[in-house]
Amino acid sequence: MTDPSRADNPDIAADFPTVLVVDFGAQYAQLIARRVREAHIYSEVVAHSTPVQDIVARKPAALILSGGPSSAYEDGAPGIDPDLLEAGIPVLGLCYGFQAITQALGGTVARTERREYGSTPLTSLATDSVLLADQPADQTVWMSHSDAVSQAPEGFTVIASTPHASVAAFENTEKKIFGVQWHPEVKHTPFGQDTITNFLYHGAGLRPEWTTNNVIDEQVQLIKDQVGDARAICGLSGGVDSAVAAALVQRAIGDRLTCVYVNHGLMRHDESVEIERAFGTASGGARLVMLEAEGDFLQALSGVSDPEAKRKIIGEKFIRTFERAQAEIVAETADQDLPPVKFLVQGTVYPDIVESGGGDGTAVIKSHHNVGGLPDDIEFELVEPLRALFKDEVRAVGTELGLPDEIVWRQPFPGPGLGIRIIGEVTKERLDTLRAADAIVRAELTAAGLDREIWQCPVVLLADVRSVGVQGDARTYGHPIVLRPVVSDDAMTADWAKVPYDVLSKISNRITNEVDEINRVVLDVTSKPPGTIEWE
Ligand code: XMP
Repeated sequence: MTDPSRADNPDIAADFPTVLVVDFGAQYAQLIARRVREAHIYSEVVAHSTPVQDIVARKPAALILSGGPSSAYEDGAPGIDPDLLEAGIPVLGLCYGFQAITQALGGTVARTERREYGSTPLTSLATDSVLLADQPADQTVWMSHSDAVSQAPEGFTVIASTPHASVAAFENTEKKIFGVQWHPEVKHTPFGQDTITNFLYHGAGLRPEWTTNNVIDEQVQLIKDQVGDARAICGLSGGVDSAVAAALVQRAIGDRLTCVYVNHGLMRHDESVEIERAFGTASGGARLVMLEAEGDFLQALSGVSDPEAKRKIIGEKFIRTFERAQAEIVAETADQDLPPVKFLVQGTVYPDIVESGGGDGTAVIKSHHNVGGLPDDIEFELVEPLRALFKDEVRAVGTELGLPDEIVWRQPFPGPGLGIRIIGEVTKERLDTLRAADAIVRAELTAAGLDREIWQCPVVLLADVRSVGVQGDARTYGHPIVLRPVVSDDAMTADWAKVPYDVLSKISNRITNEVDEINRVVLDVTSKPPGTIEWE
């Protein structure tokens, strides 16, 4: 299988040199692609099982072989076809990819006597190395391996070592093949991005030409090609992803796009009003239809506590509501002989797909409402111009498109809304309780000037938990509210935000005083992983 961003989406940047990341089952293969894009060269992920001729046919400007969980010398371990290394394409191998190159070209990989994991001191061995140029002779790198290269293939120069890996990196500048045992893609390797750019600019001779601006031109063209002269609707959630997707499609097909906002009753306090107000500028002038569907959603959710079941119900209800919108739009314009409303635009981004199990061998963490949560009998054709992008890249595209900061810097809010922030059954009363607590949290974080510092702060109602408290000399038996403020770059990983104690204290006082039913406020201090950002 290919990278999900390509599964049913044509090249996002067909005219730009593309670096293909060959995924050997790495946890963060897409992070490597993202680092390459940060170096302004377009990049995508392909599975290691992709046939060599298919990879070569895509004319990649360079290849990066990712890490992976296997042992390179074991039977059945995924290898790299030597033909691929003879095809004249510059190659960089990382961790397992480095070992796979070694195996393919006649070097030796063996188990090390000691596993290296985490920050590891590295010493450069060659002063004229291309890969490690302009880096200190001694640096720290992030390692995670129990096998190591004990002998480099013939013709390769060993350029670095660590205490337990005498061959920690090598290069053959003539063949343009490079490899490192460590992970330059993670932030824990301080010179990691320099190593990647040295490979791209100096090892492979590429130029930094790709920007998010290119995404706009390419996507507008692709949308025109896909939609033809048909009409489309776009589900607008109020978040940055769907607003950027709408603006891109609006640019491509103009007033043949109608945006639809579904009030499913799972929104936060005043959110529908804010969205309607912000929409005028965000959509580039596309028409907005507001649909009331609160009763419908709440009835469907009645009695349901399981988070995946909730997600599936909400995903299905969304589509049924969009079908209702489609029928209304068609009926309204029945006398105008207009093309059919065939397409549904969604602001799906890369992490939605990965978490919904869209990657090669990727586990389903949760069915994002717009990916795994969709019903099977969907009749719309999907338009998803942001499928290959991370949230911060989407924000850059949004800014480039001229969307206001108010939209571009809105904190992420999940499509299923508060429905997944109530642990237990979703009812109108519980939603009102959560809305009241959430409004206080948002107001206080804004007042403290923390909106940009914090990636988002889910507020979660533990509706199935009660505990004893005391208030006004009386016993209470109320529910806890969880605060989950996080900092993150792209929601793939996150850390809990160190919100000042006085702000937390004010939030806690206000919630317990102002919101009936809540007698405790607790703070989640878990990073992602192992936690996710949302509770559900
Ligand atoms: P997790 O909880 O997986 O969340 O760490 C990662 C990011 O995704 C958001 N999220 C969603 N967004 N539909 C969305 O549009 C969904 O079904 C969904 N589930 C989670 C979450 O708020 C966080 O920003």
